[in-house]
Amino acid sequence: MSTSPTSPAPLTVTVTGAAGQIAYSLLFRIAAGDAFGERPVALRLLEIPAARRAAEGVAMELSDSAFPLVQSITVTDDQDEGFAGADAVFLVGAKPRGKGEERSDLLIGNGRIFGPQGRSIAANASPDVRVLVVGNPANTNAAILDAHAGLDAGQVTAMTRLDHNRSLAQLADKLGVTTTRLTSMTVWGNHSTTQFPDVAELRLDGKPVADSLDSSWVDEEFIPRVAKRGGEIIEVRGSSSAASAASSAVDHMRDWFQGTPADDWVSVALRSDGSYGIPEGLFASFPCRSVDGTWEIVQGLELDERQQERIRATVAELESERDTVREAGML
Ligand code: NAD
Ligand code: LMR
Repeated sequence: MSTSPTSPAPLTVTVTGAAGQIAYSLLFRIAAGDAFGERPVALRLLEIPAARRAAEGVAMELSDSAFPLVQSITVTDDQDEGFAGADAVFLVGAKPRGKGEERSDLLIGNGRIFGPQGRSIAANASPDVRVLVVGNPANTNAAILDAHAGLDAGQVTAMTRLDHNRSLAQLADKLGVTTTRLTSMTVWGNHSTTQFPDVAELRLDGKPVADSLDSSWVDEEFIPRVAKRGGEIIEVRGSSSAASAASSAVDHMRDWFQGTPADDWVSVALRSDGSYGIPEGLFASFPCRSVDGTWEIVQGLELDERQQERIRATVAELESERDTVREAGML
């Protein structure tokens, strides 16, 4: 746990739900430098009081790993202390769904976590803080947090990168190529079964490839497979995705801090500015590029009626989630 005298100032990185399944993978990936490169990190592990001792055990293991980039580890169940000076925040702490449940079943229970966290982040974190909401239902939790934090548009995001990565994996398998040869995949909308994994702009080695994909495979196999993959993992693994979620959270933050390639984009859920007809203020997934540390929605993509219909369906679900949490007084 030491850095040389010439090391850059550490980034303060907060992870909530630090004793949980995702954090058990995520914290070690951050500590290894996978998210923030060679920048040293001051880790803040935030838990609820009942799980604080387990989080202390995770901190002991982090310490035992002697990661060169880890400058300090703080374990706390005090929100203000957890978010103090945070440059990057991973909001993982929330209940996962079980077999037979939808993510929206978690709306009221988990939504209550995010208003107080938003206010605490606004009061204690760095003014330039970058926030990723992972806890489900991620889009609407992010909307709640955003409303209470009052940060600039784009500082609060929700994770659809796992859906993006799942899409690339399914497509690479179908086309018999590696995922690294595929670019310009987009997941639109909600991190739920209404999401729209859209291959219209997909490229293989930089060349359009959508026309070579069988449209019935795309509509009847690919889209439902990706949209229901979380449920499939719960069914087969017995609990919700953890290491793949952590890996996608690392990808999201790495690209946010280090940039996306000029000839590609990734999927990010953020506050809509009205692009592509998605109502302003909804937290929807868009094709985004990270430029100088800021997410920019890729503009100018042409959407046909079929694409627009799928986007309308996922937007309708986001609006209904928003109305539910509004009625419950969370927004
Ligand atoms: P888990 O139950 O293993 O861990 C959650 C942890 O959060 C627990 O230790 C709990 O004590 C803690 N926690 C609860 N409320 C908290 C609060 N207010 N502050 C700090 N910590 C708090 O769950 P997990 O498998 O790590 O999953 C966490 C969340 O991530 C779930 O909601 C899950 O559905 C979601 N998830 C999202 C995605 C995505 O792609 N967006 C992917 C996978 C999982
Ligand atoms: C996932 O997509 O794997 C997570 O959101 C967990 C879930 O509930 O499906």
